[in-house]
Amino acid sequence: MRQTIQQAYELAKDTRERAYAPYSGFKVGAALLTADGDKVYTGCNVENASYGATICAERNAILHAIAEDGIQDYEAIIVVSDDEPPAPPCALCLQVLTEFCSPDMRVILGTLEGIQIEYTLKDLLPHPFDGSKLQKG
Ligand code: THU
Repeated sequence: MRQTIQQAYELAKDTRERAYAPYSGFKVGAALLTADGDKVYTGCNVENASYGATICAERNAILHAIAEDGIQDYEAIIVVSDDEPPAPPCALCLQVLTEFCSPDMRVILGTLEGIQIEYTLKDLLPHPFDGSKLQKG
């Protein structure tokens, strides 16, 4: 059975509860849905006393996906925060997502009340730094 965007939203919202955000108090949850709908990989933000070492929810989700099952095609990432309008992925996360996700991947933003806004990855990062020319072999 395919997992739906709504199910992925609920998983992102649940995962947000496990965010470790003692410094900002701003909890974020993310859920990455595969293109075949078979799996959802979740992430939450994990902060650090050395603030720059903080990992955002979106990077946590894509790293989780790769660590668990390798690189796949992804239909959407759903990001949930308690903010109005809901937070989009930061520029660092957009760049990391661009390495592994299609420019047409859906980026769906929600609050605790539900899904609010939808973009594509290329809407949010239209001209990413392209590493393909740097790859050796
Ligand atoms: N954060 C995310 O996890 N994702 C976003 O989309 C924006 C920001 C986190 C990083 C940090 O832990 C907190 O939110 C405040 O910046």
